[in-house]
Amino acid sequence: MYCFGDLVNYLSLGFIVLGLLHVVFHRKAQASYGRHMRFSPTVRTVPAKVAWFLQEMPAFLIPLLLLLISGKPFSMGTYLLLGTFCIHYFQRIFVFSLLTRGRPFPLHVMLAAGLFCCVNAFLHGHYLLHCAHFDDEWSADYRFKTGLLLFYVGMAINIHSDYILRNLRKPGEIIYKIPTGGLFEYVSGANYLGEIVEWCGYAMATWSFPAMSLAVFSLCFIGPRAYYHHRFYQEKFKEYPKSRKALIPFIF
Ligand SMILES: NC(=O)c1ccc[n+]([C@@H]2O[C@H](COP(=O)([O-])OP(=O)(O)OC[C@H]3O[C@@H](n4cnc5c(N)ncnc54)[C@H](OP(=O)(O)O)[C@@H]3O)[C@@H](O)[C@H]2O)c1
Repeated sequence: MYCFGDLVNYLSLGFIVLGLLHVVFHRKAQASYGRHMRFSPTVRTVPAKVAWFLQEMPAFLIPLLLLLISGKPFSMGTYLLLGTFCIHYFQRIFVFSLLTRGRPFPLHVMLAAGLFCCVNAFLHGHYLLHCAHFDDEWSADYRFKTGLLLFYVGMAINIHSDYILRNLRKPGEIIYKIPTGGLFEYVSGANYLGEIVEWCGYAMATWSFPAMSLAVFSLCFIGPRAYYHHRFYQEKFKEYPKSRKALIPFIF
């Protein structure tokens, strides 16, 4: 298939602008779900399991569909990078979503997240399969290897941290407790830190504008969220560990 290079660049730029706008317009209030949800009688909600499962599904299926309809073989580097992108969403859909004990999710936030996942998945699937060329030389490059290593370290942190959070609650509970263990000993947003490391690693491994834009978007979306979670804990729990930071151990 032809590479829609201009579209790839515009979408990537769009995600960076969207991330920066999010930082500017959500300085006082974070995206309205979870503990930052703004309640109103008119807001329709769906169970968290359903919301996460449905909204993230396109991010897994679209790259696979693009691979299937392309009907041609690709290099090992391309398969590894596409697999890396998909494995993140496989985990989010078939592990995180099905096990979450989160509170009900606003329908409009689920729809917005689903749209984001569709466009983002098309952007990465199309770029990896039809625009980039990851030959054997690239697979031996230190940026590819270090980037993939970073991605999987970040993913391990993210999964372990989400596991800790999930197990703070008994089934049916929706209260908040102080998370302990793993990187939560250092930061309040350990799961977010893991996710940001993941996408920075992916950006390094692909060395591409679309992947860089996803890393920037994630930093802009969940970085401030980590800060507001941190403030929430400090206000709610007098005994909250003083040395714990919001997102970056010992620094911020
Ligand atoms: N790349 C991106 O742009 C992006 C954007 C959003 C999310 N994500 C990823 O998606 C995953 C979920 O994100 P999220 O914003 O929902 O994370 P979160 O606010 O940390 O919540 C994760 C889950 O743990 C529960 N939880 C959190 N803190 C808790 C506490 N102190 N006590 C008891 N339960 C607690 C939450 O319940 P409640 O829902 O009831 O609060 C939710 O079910 C994360 O891995 C994140 O990295 C990525």
